[in-house]
Amino acid sequence: MASTSSRRRERLRLLDAGAGVGALTAAWVSEICSRSFRPKEIRLTAYELDEALLPALRQTLTACEKACAAVGIHCKWEVRLTDFIESAVDILDAGLFQTEPAKFDVAILNPPYKKFRSESRTRQVLRRLDIETSNLYTAFLALAVMLLDKGGELIAITPRSFCNGPYFRPFRKHFLQNVNLTRLHVFESRGHAFRDDDVLQENLILHAVKGMPQQTLVSISESHTPDDPTERRRSVPFQRVVRPDDSESFIHLVPDENGHALAETMETLPFTLDALGLAVSTGRVVDFRARRWLRAETSSETVPLIYPTHFENGLVRWPKANYKKPNAILHNAESATLMVPAGVYVLVRRFSAKEERRRVVAAIFDPEYVPCNVVGFENHVNYFHERGAPLDRTLAWGLSMFLNCTSLDTYFRQFNGHTQVNATDLRSLRYPTRAALTEMGRRAGDMLPSQNDIDALVAEILEIQ
Ligand SMILES: C[S@@+](CC[C@H](N)C(=O)[O-])C[C@H]1O[C@@H](n2cnc3c(N)ncnc32)[C@H](O)[C@@H]1O
Repeated sequence: MASTSSRRRERLRLLDAGAGVGALTAAWVSEICSRSFRPKEIRLTAYELDEALLPALRQTLTACEKACAAVGIHCKWEVRLTDFIESAVDILDAGLFQTEPAKFDVAILNPPYKKFRSESRTRQVLRRLDIETSNLYTAFLALAVMLLDKGGELIAITPRSFCNGPYFRPFRKHFLQNVNLTRLHVFESRGHAFRDDDVLQENLILHAVKGMPQQTLVSISESHTPDDPTERRRSVPFQRVVRPDDSESFIHLVPDENGHALAETMETLPFTLDALGLAVSTGRVVDFRARRWLRAETSSETVPLIYPTHFENGLVRWPKANYKKPNAILHNAESATLMVPAGVYVLVRRFSAKEERRRVVAAIFDPEYVPCNVVGFENHVNYFHERGAPLDRTLAWGLSMFLNCTSLDTYFRQFNGHTQVNATDLRSLRYPTRAALTEMGRRAGDMLPSQNDIDALVAEILEIQ
């Protein structure tokens, strides 16, 4: 991270927000001291909330001061034992009325990760600066950018969720409007870089420069873990990273030539889901909210309740005996709004297990196998439908083939680095024509073929369309 720092000035002001014991500051100081072009003066500002870390943090900063003195750099440092969010908002808010707040040339951060609610104090405080975000780490990034001088650089290691999460949309827009994105490095192994912090998603290091026009190429690299000696790196046109026509401003990480070619193919498919006349929604039954209607066994008053666990080789098999989740939901006037009319639908799991091979897993719900008049889809599944109505069976099989093919899964990972598959993600994809999907469905029959056969069939049909 420190080696990506490229700001050259006589005097450099560094911000480390959520400094811990000062590891990132120390790395940066060490890097700067080792360079042939060195600043005359550096100022280090470390924000940390945890008082217990203070002695070690001071020790690190004192060591930084000494290392600087040894190479003729005058180093001043300051620890702010306070909440970075509150403090930054105060500084920036006051700046609107008083003199310009002191700014930084470089911000290096490994911010804390935690969701906060919309009624929380943090959220209210952030709204003073029109920052709409619901996680500490994106709040830290947004504020760090605001505290940078024009041309100042942001270097951060964070979870990858902000690249596509629907809740991060306002953050992405704001962020991309204010910085020039120069470098992204992804760690493919979820849970490794932050294995102590319970963050089960891919992580990335980003480098961005404030207030500069977006350069045409972004450097994207990838390694399995932080210790992986093989790093794949390439320059990608910014328009491929953030597509100009994407209202969600997803950030795509296209690590190699194959990935690039694949993205070309997937993004030039002819239809959006909407243009196909189809839609995807998240299952309406949130089980812990509907607890009073849930039943382990079926009866004349219940209807099937479908969870991802009912997926079996591309089909929904129901009921499942001796299963900890309920198989059924009471169908009454109150619960009726949570149900959908029985018919054929394509279901996609919303969460995959930790290191699972596939991210996108689709299965067909067919009343021929699950006899019912209405059905409840639980919130852990997304379902494709014909704008509220069931799908044609052959089309559904084709759609399921397309969603289950390896190319789609690989492409999906370029913009989704966590275990969650959101309906927004599925809506952002492009799709083959109805005719191509129907042909895929016709060739599939009523059983999901082997992975090799799915891939060969989808490839063949997409080539000829
Ligand atoms: C993920 S750790 C990173 C520590 C250090 N930068 C490193 O890379 O080793 C995040 C740090 O932010 C601190 N922190 C959490 N919330 C904070 C807040 N609101 N203001 C300042 N620091 C905070 C935590 O105490 C923790 O030390």
